[in-house]
Amino acid sequence: MTSKCVISLDLPEDVVAPLRDQFDLLTWSGKEAMPEVTLQDWLADAEGLLCSLSTPITASVIADARQLKVISTMSVGVDHIDLAAATAACIPVGHTPGVLVDSTADLAVGLMIAANRRIAEADRWMRTGQWSQGWQSDLLLGSDLSRATVGIVGLGPIGEATIRRLRGFGATLVGWNRTPKALKGVEMVDLEDLFCRCDIVSLHTALTPETFQIASRQRLASMRSGASLINTGRGDLVDEEALIEELSSGRLRAGLDVFKTEPLPADHPLLSLDNAVLLPHVGSATFSTRMAMVTRALENLRAGMSGEPLSFCANPEVYGLSV
Ligand code: DGY
Repeated sequence: MTSKCVISLDLPEDVVAPLRDQFDLLTWSGKEAMPEVTLQDWLADAEGLLCSLSTPITASVIADARQLKVISTMSVGVDHIDLAAATAACIPVGHTPGVLVDSTADLAVGLMIAANRRIAEADRWMRTGQWSQGWQSDLLLGSDLSRATVGIVGLGPIGEATIRRLRGFGATLVGWNRTPKALKGVEMVDLEDLFCRCDIVSLHTALTPETFQIASRQRLASMRSGASLINTGRGDLVDEEALIEELSSGRLRAGLDVFKTEPLPADHPLLSLDNAVLLPHVGSATFSTRMAMVTRALENLRAGMSGEPLSFCANPEVYGLSV
């Protein structure tokens, strides 16, 4: 009998076609996230799951999936998966680190420039017919990256790639990492210092219980007036309510690719704030990066289905290795 695999995200047929010869596939083709009940039903006798961050893989989903041998997510982040439950059930979780580093770092710098040079705001302003006077000496003034002190929270591959780019802009660099790290030209400081000293704070840590709301109300309040917060990590790294208050008062600016609730509800207060540049979680959204992510996710899925160790495993403890 052919083993069954569930694909809980909508992927192009030419990407999934090669799997059809090997596995009995159940593929979700809705653009909206797959409902948990459907997922549970489909996983009842499945051995493999290919998913993305729009489908939470909860402890109860894992508990009911008695035959499951591998979970492979098309993302580097695994905060949508109950990793402890997967590990307890001896299910390896594959993810896609490395391949989205450059795309995400590019977008983080793009958001820094967009927020500080008011690019999206200026575009909206023009399109609403407000440009009636030609060049004006004080029109839509912003601030320079070359004069900014930029604080990078989390010096993993994406944080480091962001730093490499910022060196080229001549920014002054300050960093914080959970485990001590030395990087040329980056002053390492504690989080309190970083938030209160920087003109731009950019978040690059994984979301874990320790980093939940690392940009807390108190740290946001300590930021300089006119400073900006950039988030290409996860929405829950920020106390979003506190950020909205800071943006509404005009004290801070922001460039956000990720939110507490995704998709952002149509009546969300952030949507009415001109000093926030908002993107729909597209940090890794380039053709080549998404192709590299799906290729890596499929490799992980195939390895797990054949009982081989996954090349990119988020819970190597299942193989008796330490994280
Ligand atoms: C990830 O991979 O975790 C990103 O958020 C989506 O590309």
